[in-house]
Amino acid sequence: MMDPRISIIPERIKDVKRRIAIVSGKGGVGKTVLASLLALGLSSMGKIVGLLDLDFNGPSCHIVLGIPEDTSIKEEKGIIPPLFNGIRFMSLELFVKERALPLRGDDISNAIIELLAITRWGSLDYLIIDTPPGTSDELLDILRLIDGLETLIVTIPSKLALKTVSRLLNLLKMVNTNIIGIIENMSKGTDMVREFARREGIRYLGSIPYDEKLEEALGDVDALKRTSISESITTILHKIIGLKITR
Ligand SMILES: Nc1ncnc2c1ncn2[C@@H]1O[C@H](COP(=O)(O)OP(=O)(O)OP(=O)(O)O)[C@@H](O)[C@H]1O
Ligand SMILES: [Mg+2]
Repeated sequence: MMDPRISIIPERIKDVKRRIAIVSGKGGVGKTVLASLLALGLSSMGKIVGLLDLDFNGPSCHIVLGIPEDTSIKEEKGIIPPLFNGIRFMSLELFVKERALPLRGDDISNAIIELLAITRWGSLDYLIIDTPPGTSDELLDILRLIDGLETLIVTIPSKLALKTVSRLLNLLKMVNTNIIGIIENMSKGTDMVREFARREGIRYLGSIPYDEKLEEALGDVDALKRTSISESITTILHKIIGLKITR
């Protein structure tokens, strides 16, 4: 018999227009930073946005956005994600706080199903989902559970990273997900990633410079908005918003 929690998920996200997972081949390429800043950028543009942190081993979007870990959660026939700087935010972190999270395999699937089944996103223009690197259990689960999921690939300009993106692309193409395109983070001004995108037949969405001021700005939304990363994100968002998505 089908898990009854799974059947409620489509209902929970039915008023979410675009569901976008931020993915990468390699770890440490900037998914979490970009997921958080994409959500912030969309909110600044007047869009109604949700941010779901699905990196269960190291949830960290709340650190980027300065969302207190002791934020209380409102239960009302499910859970209404708390609102921060115009972003509806949900993360396992809000439940487990500082306790270690030794989740693996089925435990991860269970936690994802539970989270998706209880969270009442309401009407959203965009739901941005941060994921762990590679073809993680988390990614495989949301590809299965979230109808019409789009993916946005983040990479750095390195042969090592692109090799892992190729592998990820094979999976994404196999399951027919809508790949929005690839973002080059910590760009060095080379055309390596642009060329890679052309060869793979995916959209190159733009580059983001390495910004040494980022570290100091983490946790401070106003400072984040002033970084050169946010500026590049705005340009990229205009492209993403303009895309017509068929679902
Ligand atoms: N454009 C940038 N300029 C400067 N520092 C950056 C930039 N992008 C990301 N970083 C830094 O690089 C590190 C990795 O970023 P982040 O945690 O977002 O990567 P990730 O892909 O989410 O990693 P993981 O795969 O472990 O989840 C962080 O310390 C972050 O602050
Ligand atoms: Mg991350």
